[in-house]
Amino acid sequence: MYKIGREEAEAASRVIESGELFRIGGKYREVIQFEEEFKKKMGAEHCLLMTNGTQAIAASLAALGIGPGDEVIVPGYTFIATAIAVLSVGAIPVIAEIDESLTIDPDDVEKKISRYTKAIVPVHMVGFPCNMKRIMEIAEKYNLYVVEDACQACGGQFGGRYLGTFGNFGAFSFNYFKILTAGEGGALITNDIKKYERAIIYHDCGTAFWSYEQPITEPLFSGANMRSNEITGAILRVQLTRLDDILSHLRGHKKKLMDMLNGVPGIRFNRSNDINGDCGTWIPFIFDTAEQAEKFELAVGGTRPINTGKHVYENWVPILEKRGAHCDAMNPYRFAANAGLNMDARRDSCPKILDYLSRTVYIGTSYDMSDEYIESIAEKCVSAVK
Ligand SMILES: Cc1ncc(COP(=O)(O)O)c(C=O)c1O
Repeated sequence: MYKIGREEAEAASRVIESGELFRIGGKYREVIQFEEEFKKKMGAEHCLLMTNGTQAIAASLAALGIGPGDEVIVPGYTFIATAIAVLSVGAIPVIAEIDESLTIDPDDVEKKISRYTKAIVPVHMVGFPCNMKRIMEIAEKYNLYVVEDACQACGGQFGGRYLGTFGNFGAFSFNYFKILTAGEGGALITNDIKKYERAIIYHDCGTAFWSYEQPITEPLFSGANMRSNEITGAILRVQLTRLDDILSHLRGHKKKLMDMLNGVPGIRFNRSNDINGDCGTWIPFIFDTAEQAEKFELAVGGTRPINTGKHVYENWVPILEKRGAHCDAMNPYRFAANAGLNMDARRDSCPKILDYLSRTVYIGTSYDMSDEYIESIAEKCVSAVK
């Protein structure tokens, strides 16, 4: 969470006082208005506000018809939710390496494509944009779908275009730790009306219980309840008005610290695919060895991404141990349709991920960081590498 306050409280109160908390028939149409405003901001044709980002990814995959018999390539550096979303539709996540940008390595994606591959899920991890030019070229060459996981990168861009708008779908999270937040929440965006209808069906218990102007024409199929509510919509509408301001603060702080440290011997930043589109939430420093990184981490009070638990594939127990559901019969790793697919997820399958993450140290930004605080961090960084 970067900024929240009175306006959000007033928006939530307005909904509560109206007594209309359901997204359908709500007095203020908060969810529908958020969807309109978010899609306009992103430059997409359709938006669906949902319960969370995990389900936004799953609904995107389901809308694309991905399921048993399909492989979906995901990076091994992302919150486990990305891979779990793939399993939740019955497909198998195939884990790809990252490169120095800490985002999915397009060369490794290409190596991992098989005749079963249906989609790539590039993840704009901690607001770092993936190389969407390469990813889209690969997707086109091999006729694959792309679902961008922009859960940690709302408002980020690649080449001046919003993340989440390159692929068939873009998925966002509005949980407590994200750039925009309502405590929990998620959204998907797409330009494909038919696939959008399927996402609506999937997220609304397999019905078309809907108040939109267009009738649902796609055949109904079973899904689950991932509907959002008017309080979330109201809070997020206020949050969305803050997006540019939040990002300009974060980016400004990041630039200030990077400028202060530029050229200091012993300090190097990870390569970015687009530093102007980067969200500014974290500043990544890369070292030659994990020992140097650890020393720096301790001296400056940073975080090494190798230690961020379920964000690193080596800690994805359900996937490493192939327990893809709560019971065997529903476990995609056991489906006959998935026999012969790439299930080779081991703790050591992606050595580049473990290497880059152990040699990287993050320093986080916050909305209200003062210049004095940034200067004090810069001083710590300089003395740590002396
Ligand atoms: C990269 C990434 N993908 C997906 C998710 C899932 O989002 P949610 O928590 O809203 O389900 C998260 C949340 O932490 C995330 O960081």
